[in-house]
Amino acid sequence: MEGIEHPLGERHLAGCLALSRAASWNQNEADWRLMLALGRGWGLSLADGTLAATTLVLPYGGRFAWVSMVLVLPEHRRMGYASRLLRVALDDLESGGLTPVLDATPAGREVYRREGFAEQWSFSRLAAKSVSTPPLTVQGVRALGEGDWGWMLELDGMAFGASRERLLRALARRMPEAALVREAGGFILGRDGGDARQLGPLVARDAGTAKALLAQALRLVEPPIYVDVVDHAPALREWLEARGFVFQRPFTRMVRGAARAPGDERYVFLVAGPELG
Ligand SMILES: CC(C)(COP(=O)(O)OP(=O)(O)OC[C@H]1O[C@@H](n2cnc3c(N)ncnc32)[C@H](O)[C@@H]1OP(=O)(O)O)[C@@H](O)C(=O)NCCC(=O)NCCS
Repeated sequence: MEGIEHPLGERHLAGCLALSRAASWNQNEADWRLMLALGRGWGLSLADGTLAATTLVLPYGGRFAWVSMVLVLPEHRRMGYASRLLRVALDDLESGGLTPVLDATPAGREVYRREGFAEQWSFSRLAAKSVSTPPLTVQGVRALGEGDWGWMLELDGMAFGASRERLLRALARRMPEAALVREAGGFILGRDGGDARQLGPLVARDAGTAKALLAQALRLVEPPIYVDVVDHAPALREWLEARGFVFQRPFTRMVRGAARAPGDERYVFLVAGPELG
């Protein structure tokens, strides 16, 4: 079969970015560098050196790993490339005893179903070019401080199902103005991107705290903004739509070889992004 499979490294960054662009995905170079540092990936290159496909895995704790950046250049789709790299990734995770979890686009969902992934819950990408924000500072919401990490990581571990401390600390550095907390109740982080800034993850003990954190973040972060809001918080989605956010695309959380995806989604209001969890 055409194309050579190989590990992904920094020298493939230009090709990786070209794949994100071709799919109109938001990752910038900092995102690809972060994901390659958190995990590992494979590419499929053609005889002329073109990187035609990628797949990454991001291990979180010792139980599961995110399958991420399953991308194929548009002109090379439906030739089995995604399935080939997915197989490499799944073999890698199987040998390490890690359960694969991912967030699928509608096209990706078909590829994953064939490999035995089952659907769990869903979320929606919303985008805003401008946002009408509440005029006043939201009570009880403040900038994340070093002393917050203890309770934040405990809450996030419950929501996500494993420690993702390296990821969360990297996001807090990427966009300090979006790194906000309501003490012991919840937190929000954000990052820059190719097309828009992305807010998330937003993890909170209750919907009121989630809305307060998001309202304050929207006051501080310049649009355009993307959010990935869970479909099990319809009131938050309606509130976002009233502020100028528009539905862009759906995603489905899927897991393979386990009855349930890890974590407790009741505490998740915005996911970090389909590529991160
Ligand atoms: C989704 C994507 C990665 C699939 O890559 P691909 O190399 O074309 O996939 P494969 O050739 O391995 O497809 C294997 C099978 O999955 C199913 N499938 C793949 N793409 C599909 C689509 N767009 N719609 C319906 N079924 C699809 C088919 O059953 C296909 O087998 P067939 O071609 O013999 O019918 C590619 O379309 C892509 O990069 N899309 C944009 C980014 C994206 O959505 N990535 C998935 C992230 S979760």
